[in-house]
Amino acid sequence: MGIIALTYNFVNASSSKASMKKGGWKCPPRGFVKLNVDASFDLDLLKGTMGAVLRDDKGRFIAGGNGKTDYCADVIMAEALAVKFGLNLAQRAGCNHLIINSDNLEYSSYRRSRSRSKNPAALPINWPIIHMFPSLLVNVHNLLDYFTLVLAGNGHNFRAHGPPGTGMRFFVTCDPANIRHIFTTNYTNFPKGTEFVAIFDIMGDSLFNVDGARALRPRVKIHTVLSSPRLVASMEACCRDKVVNNLLPLFCHMASTNALFDMQELMSRFMFDLATTALFSVDPGLLSIDMPSMDIAVAMDTVMRWLNIGPERMLGAAHTVLRVFVAKMIERRNIDKVHVSNDEEQEGVDILSSYINDPDFADYDFLCAGLIGLMLALRDTVRTTLTWIFYNLAQNPDIVATIRNELLPIALQKAPTGAGAMVIFEPEEIKSLVYLRATLYETLRLYPPAPLERKTVATEDIMPSGHKVHAGDTVFVSIYSMGRMRDVWGENCLDYNPHRWLSKDGNTLRYVPSHKFLSFNSGPRICPGKDIAVMQMKIIIATVLWNFDVEVLEGQSIRPKSSCILQMENGLIVKLKKRQA
Ligand code: HEM
Repeated sequence: MGIIALTYNFVNASSSKASMKKGGWKCPPRGFVKLNVDASFDLDLLKGTMGAVLRDDKGRFIAGGNGKTDYCADVIMAEALAVKFGLNLAQRAGCNHLIINSDNLEYSSYRRSRSRSKNPAALPINWPIIHMFPSLLVNVHNLLDYFTLVLAGNGHNFRAHGPPGTGMRFFVTCDPANIRHIFTTNYTNFPKGTEFVAIFDIMGDSLFNVDGARALRPRVKIHTVLSSPRLVASMEACCRDKVVNNLLPLFCHMASTNALFDMQELMSRFMFDLATTALFSVDPGLLSIDMPSMDIAVAMDTVMRWLNIGPERMLGAAHTVLRVFVAKMIERRNIDKVHVSNDEEQEGVDILSSYINDPDFADYDFLCAGLIGLMLALRDTVRTTLTWIFYNLAQNPDIVATIRNELLPIALQKAPTGAGAMVIFEPEEIKSLVYLRATLYETLRLYPPAPLERKTVATEDIMPSGHKVHAGDTVFVSIYSMGRMRDVWGENCLDYNPHRWLSKDGNTLRYVPSHKFLSFNSGPRICPGKDIAVMQMKIIIATVLWNFDVEVLEGQSIRPKSSCILQMENGLIVKLKKRQA
């Protein structure tokens, strides 16, 4: 049906008698290809059809196709699937520079970021959740955008339910007032719940998985550990030394050989080394020119499942790899302890040393699970953010220029030294750089490493938005969607613009409450590693940007992977050029 309509329109438009109707088909700009998609939707059968046509900048037909959807919840979903179908067609036809035309007003209005429309988008019927509906298979790989689409059209909230008879109910929100209620005002009523613990069972009964009174001691402990000036100074120094001794030489090598490489993988190696150094004082040396294998890092990726999806066999193997690794680290420390006469020396240099003698963490499994949780927190969040920063900066040379301007007065004070004449920025020197921090926050706003929070409802409650939730309901908080809501971040919410974080004079950061900028969480569960993460990212970004130009290979498909961490599905292929001092 869709393809017939599109072909009909195209034939009419191409005819010599065709007149230009207002808003009719227009050629795309030179060098671009226009993708027209259309969908039809049968409300009774919950099925749809779709079609897509690609034409070049002279209006010439390149490719077309049509398809059916066996399950389609509503008209927005039909149109979204048609866009997806068209994009696949474009990819197969090798068309990269695309302009997409879709005539569904609700879908298009979302794409233009018109959140909270006056005519709310139709709610999905029997909204799909894993193990329930075939439609999930369509949406699960695009769940974040799907949530954003529906939330934008429904005043930042929607409710959905599972298949008849299951009694499963869901409430999805990105409404700042609801978020304050869930994370702060009434947070005891919104524990993580058993499903969360089942997904992240590798973290056992550690802080990451428990709520209420059981979380209190571990939380106080980690806040104390991560705010110890000695540990913070040691982590700063480690990061700085790792940049100087490993990252810069490797980047110099990549630049001198003009090599293409995956920035995401390198950031992953870098952060793995840094995480194990901070935790155990052990640097496994994954960041080196010969790129050693990353079994443990791969196991860490495997355990971060998306809505409980993932082959159990692989998961079991990954658990074993991680446990064995952490067990070795603990054993090594126990042996070292026997040899180190002065315990004071050891205390506070890494995170493990603060736990190893603590009777609250004497239970081996508990300690092990907590350390694995910390490894994931330390590595995954920062490496993910760094990859998105490099990607966004490569699209925004003006922002790179502003960061370099901010670094200039510091760089002028030092003559580049050593091989390759690199400029190294010390942690103290860049601590107060406001624009650099604004760039980090802007990245975290649009690309929060943990894009979706999951909670359950303990007892019946009414949200500030007026929605009633019942005991046992699951609440999904879409942090990813919140950064993309016009009512929260303004008309230009989809633009990557660090200036939105600055005061009028540009000298200070604007205050943004954590229930609006939720990337580091909010309330009692707020991330205790925020300052450390910001410090690490500042050191890395400042030094890399000053010494190199980072070019992203054109034509890559950059999209988030279906994972509870917002990694890039296909990595980020880049090339470096050494800048002249
Ligand atoms: C860009 C960097 C980071 C981001 C965006 C981030 C974000 C978050 C978020 C969203 C949570 C809440 C998770 C949940 O409750 O489900 C969290 C918790 C936590 N984060 Fe981070 N994090 C980052 C870096 C770090 C680092 C470097 C550390 C350690 C040094 C760390 C340690 C923790 C810990 C221990 C918790 C648990 C807090 C609790 O449950 O009370 N994070 N973080």
